[in-house]
Amino acid sequence: MADSDRLNRVRSGTAVPSHVAVIMDGNGRWASERGFPRHLGHKEGMKSVREVIEGAVEAGIDTLTLFAFSTDNWKRPAQEVSALMGLLRLYVRKECAELRNRGVEVHALGDLDSLDEQTLSAVQEMVERTRGGDVLRLNVMISYGGREELLRATQALADRVRAGELLPEQIDAEELEAALFTRGLSDPDLLIRTSGEYRISNFMLWQLAYTELHISPVYWPDFDREALFEAILDFQRRERRFGCVSVEVNEPQ
Ligand code: IPE
Ligand code: IPE
Ligand code: MG
Repeated sequence: MADSDRLNRVRSGTAVPSHVAVIMDGNGRWASERGFPRHLGHKEGMKSVREVIEGAVEAGIDTLTLFAFSTDNWKRPAQEVSALMGLLRLYVRKECAELRNRGVEVHALGDLDSLDEQTLSAVQEMVERTRGGDVLRLNVMISYGGREELLRATQALADRVRAGELLPEQIDAEELEAALFTRGLSDPDLLIRTSGEYRISNFMLWQLAYTELHISPVYWPDFDREALFEAILDFQRRERRFGCVSVEVNEPQ
């Protein structure tokens, strides 16, 4: 695809975010507004996943994290849950070879034990077949919840204390981060949420502490690489301070 004007501006701007996370929201409303059943919105959303992965590679993002299914999404009607699991399997069948060819290494993060056998093995196959891809690391968050992740980490640390491997006072940010699903990853620089909702919905509660937020009004099935570039351009206009003062601030003596 020819370089777009937006992509050129992204590349010539300040640093491209290294880690971008996305709450892919609005599939159901996209479908309902067209008089379609909700699952068609989820299916259409798969095209946006492809778009955003390709856009991430073009922009030079290192890590892309996509929120695909939350722990609370299990509470949706059984029919919708089963459609979503079916789409996950379809995604692996349709996209795995392409992901591998593009050098995308897929990781699946979340409570994978709660997946049915078929879906779990499809997900594992995608992880295994893409291992070693060095262009983009893609984290697909499945049956993931930020609070559940923190609870698991807390239990893992408590187990180590009980086993005498760790003293309570040795529990620091580094130890906790090593017990999260995202161990070894930098925090997201940019979080995109589609469909105009201004909330985090239990996503990466620890990791998003200083992440820049970009809320797009567009429903996920309408989100494309140009919308990703727009979000990056927005990010490039931000000044990140991490609780410090601006570098430009000159205090009068
Ligand atoms: C996001 O779209 C996909 C998942 C949460 C699995 P939704 O299904 O939440 O769509 P809306 O928010 O109801 O429109
Ligand atoms: C968050 O969206 C979960 C995913 C995108 C997978 P939801 O649609 O489930 O969140 P709420 O209900 O709007 O908070
Ligand atoms: Mg939603």
